Amino acid sequence: MLSSTSFLALALALPAIIRAAEYGLVKEYAGKNFFDEWDFYGHYDNLTNGAANFLTASDASKQQLAFVNAAGNAIMKVDNKTDNLQFNQARNSVRIATKDYFTVGSVWIADMLHVPYGCSVWPAFWSQGPGWPNGGEIDTFEAVNLVANSQVAAHTQPGCTVVNATQTSTLVNTTDCSYQVNSNSGCSTGVPDPRSFGAAFAAAGGGVFVTEFATTGISVWFFSRSDVPSSLQNNSSSIDTAAFGVPVVNIPSTGCEIERFFQAQNLIFDITLCGDFAGNPTTFYQTCSGFCVNDYVLGPPSTYDNAYFEVQSVRVFGTSAAVDIQAPFSGASHSRGSTVVLSLAGLTAILVLFIAL
Ligand SMILES: *[C@@H]1O[C@H](CO)[C@@H](O)[C@H](O)[C@H]1NC(C)=O
Ligand SMILES: *[C@@H]1O[C@H](CO)[C@@H](O)[C@H](O)[C@H]1NC(C)=O
Ligand SMILES: *[C@@H]1O[C@H](CO)[C@@H](O)[C@H](O)[C@H]1NC(C)=O
Ligand SMILES: *[C@@H]1O[C@H](CO)[C@@H](O)[C@H](O)[C@H]1NC(C)=O
Ligand SMILES: *[C@@H]1O[C@H](CO)[C@@H](O)[C@H](O)[C@H]1NC(C)=O
Ligand SMILES: *[C@@H]1O[C@H](CO)[C@@H](O)[C@H](O)[C@H]1NC(C)=O
Repeated sequence: MLSSTSFLALALALPAIIRAAEYGLVKEYAGKNFFDEWDFYGHYDNLTNGAANFLTASDASKQQLAFVNAAGNAIMKVDNKTDNLQFNQARNSVRIATKDYFTVGSVWIADMLHVPYGCSVWPAFWSQGPGWPNGGEIDTFEAVNLVANSQVAAHTQPGCTVVNATQTSTLVNTTDCSYQVNSNSGCSTGVPDPRSFGAAFAAAGGGVFVTEFATTGISVWFFSRSDVPSSLQNNSSSIDTAAFGVPVVNIPSTGCEIERFFQAQNLIFDITLCGDFAGNPTTFYQTCSGFCVNDYVLGPPSTYDNAYFEVQSVRVFGTSAAVDIQAPFSGASHSRGSTVVLSLAGLTAILVLFIAL
């Protein structure tokens, strides 16, 4: 076993031999320990006006709203048992955020079998930097109610726009990422593949969302199960985003200086109900009828039988140059965690790569 000093020395010597788009594994959330390194919000949704009560870790576990199932996958769900909610009550749900923050130069990959859907349901897998909107927000997966597909968005301070994106989607909704315009809808673009959300996502065996957070831009890929590239299938210790082809959504640095508008991000899963997006009447009546809170949140709990995430893994990769080895020890400009951690596992992964070369 090498000492950590030798690991560091090796890691510092490595950048020169690692290709630009190639990233080594720095963090894995999977299996029975999936929930160990996330914070549970533990408070009602005071962020997006949703009628959801985000439980603490112990309550979520007791009520079986966050647990690892027999197949070893993480389940996060909305309460679909409580039948007697009263006016002004919220329904129990889950919102979790990684304790670690990941710097520019990271890639996060979420492999899921099921995502939450149904009238009033607003799920997201996303990230944010400290001091929103200062640290920026990247929404990799977000959808509401029974819409046909998911969308990708970013929210920033004014000055970040999408210019000359290299992407396959033509479903561009808005190109200004400023939180001050379009009622903070962000720069948002739909993922055209209907298998990116809802019953179709699950029926196809789920899929994989990849987010590359790079100086050159933010890119998102969605692969439905049958399209997942072989390099993402075998728990490989490194990935090369150049092999994934043109992303479905891209926010290039051309119109948005990434390091200026985005700081290190922590990853978040949440499922809220109604609120600013799903409950917005224009959006709500596109795919649902009745009243979002009264008919659904306070209505029959079976509305929420499909309001759950089933996650096989979230894996984070980083270029060694982008992994800020100093940050965890240099004290905290962040209120809720430490800037990216180059874990021993990450160093090992890079070391393995080094030996392989
Ligand atoms: C939401 O509630 C939490 C817990 O009380 C509090 O720390 C936080 O500041 C609140 N956020 C907003 C936006 O009100
Ligand atoms: C966007 O692309 C067009 C066509 O290639 C080019 O003329 C233009 O200069 C580009 N804009 C910026 C800001 O790079
Ligand atoms: C699209 O953008 C408009 C503002 O231009 C906003 O009102 C609407 O909610 C957005 N739609 C989606 C699906 O994000
Ligand atoms: C991953 O596994 C699949 C199926 O076993 C195989 O076809 C593929 O070549 C493997 N890919 C890599 C990069 O090892
Ligand atoms: C994937 O590989 C890493 C080491 O690179 C290991 O720690 C982890 O347990 C593996 N995960 C799975 C799901 O096999
Ligand atoms: C709740 O949803 C789960 C799927 O997440 C389902 O197995 C269960 O039968 C549903 N109903 C109740 C009452 O738990």
